[in-house]
Amino acid sequence: MAQLLTLQGGKPLEGTVKVRGAKNLVPKAMVASLLGSEPSQLRNVPEIKDVDIVTSLLTIHGVKVDADPATGDLTLDPRQAYSAEHSEVDAHAGDSRIPILFCGPLMHKTGEAFIPDLGGCRIGDRPIDYHLEVLRTFGAVVDKGPTGIHISAPKGLHGVKLDLPYPSVGATEQVLLTAVLAEGITELKNAAVEPEIHDLIAVLQQMGAIITVYTDRTIRIEGVTKLGGYKHRAIPDRNESASWASAALVTRGDIYVQGAVQRDLSAFLNTYRKIGGEFSVDDDGIRFWHAGGTLKPLVLETDVHPGFMTDWQQPMVVALTQAEGVSIVHETVYEERFGFTEALQRMGASIQLHRECLGSNPCRFGQRNFLHSAVISGASELRGTDIDVPDLRGGFSHLIAAMAAQGTSRVTGIEIINRGYEKFVDKITGLGADVELSRV
Ligand code: EPU
Repeated sequence: MAQLLTLQGGKPLEGTVKVRGAKNLVPKAMVASLLGSEPSQLRNVPEIKDVDIVTSLLTIHGVKVDADPATGDLTLDPRQAYSAEHSEVDAHAGDSRIPILFCGPLMHKTGEAFIPDLGGCRIGDRPIDYHLEVLRTFGAVVDKGPTGIHISAPKGLHGVKLDLPYPSVGATEQVLLTAVLAEGITELKNAAVEPEIHDLIAVLQQMGAIITVYTDRTIRIEGVTKLGGYKHRAIPDRNESASWASAALVTRGDIYVQGAVQRDLSAFLNTYRKIGGEFSVDDDGIRFWHAGGTLKPLVLETDVHPGFMTDWQQPMVVALTQAEGVSIVHETVYEERFGFTEALQRMGASIQLHRECLGSNPCRFGQRNFLHSAVISGASELRGTDIDVPDLRGGFSHLIAAMAAQGTSRVTGIEIINRGYEKFVDKITGLGADVELSRV
């Protein structure tokens, strides 16, 4: 039976929420444990679906995973790792994109990898061509079959010179997880340098890897012959933090996000201040609140780090529906990340989507017929409605809008939100939202 979340909007969210390890780091650090010859320990692990999926995938490959959900401590022992049955990999991969990152570690550990057809959020085509090209360059043989991709390295994996067509987070992680045990030196140009990438590098360095990050998006990896385990506390989830910050603004509330880190949210905080949000930072987190009065419109473009992150775009668009005047948002990372605005329009927001690039950042989507720019006119009074969640960030943004709206919203498909927001129903309830969870 599916879950239905019924929300009565119009109440400011007030109180404290705790944010634990980043969804976009934790699963990758878990995969990295496969490379070691000793157990690893990961702390600050959230209870989210992506962690469950990677736990299952590691387990069917012989990695012993012990979790203490209360403390968020995870022990991963890869000493008995082996190849899994293809059917089992298929059954456990769920709708996650993480399985593609098992390729390098599994080839090093067992000589081969099988990757089922991948899922992930419906926010664009989300191809894996960079990943496959990277793996081939290292010397892997890629065979595409009807149910997935079989990858092996009959002649071993060797360090290479690579230049990514775009600073893809996943492809950079693919290179790191493959190069650390490849023979020789790898030089990666145009790499992603998101904080989660730096955290993965910290994990690998603890395991014995030799990795240097240069200021021009170049990463140099000197392959070693053996890696040990790591003990690491995962970087907090900056995307969840930004979502709560937007929720405080849209509901005219006041939320202290325990675990939020200023350094990783710099571009977000600048934008938050420009729209009229207030924040104050202390050693344990950041307090976000609506200062009263009206919010100001903005011109905004998403970008790779250190720019304004694409995962912050959707909650920020909801905030911009409450700003007085016209805002423009140009999405340059994913070609179809405005699908969620359809529900906002039904709620009373005024949002027009355009195929043109309404911004100056170089963008891959301008001449390709994608509705990737938005013009938002506010302030709009939002009304509750029925919503079926389309994707992770869009779904949480719908909840934010529903909590600010007048009247009742009925939200289905909320299981998707569990992929990245730990115990979000408990958290919004704790902040004073009027919600009821039922089965339909
Ligand atoms: N791309 C390709 N070919 C590839 C790989 C990527 O064309 O082989 C394109 C993508 O289609 C996209 C762009 O490159 O247009 C950037 O994709 P990237 O590889 O950087 O994204 P990702 O690794 O698949 C991660 C996060 C996303 C986050 C992006 C950007 C995880 C599990 N996912 O995705 O998070 O938006 O980086 O920072 O780490 C989310 O949390 O909601 C989410 C979607």
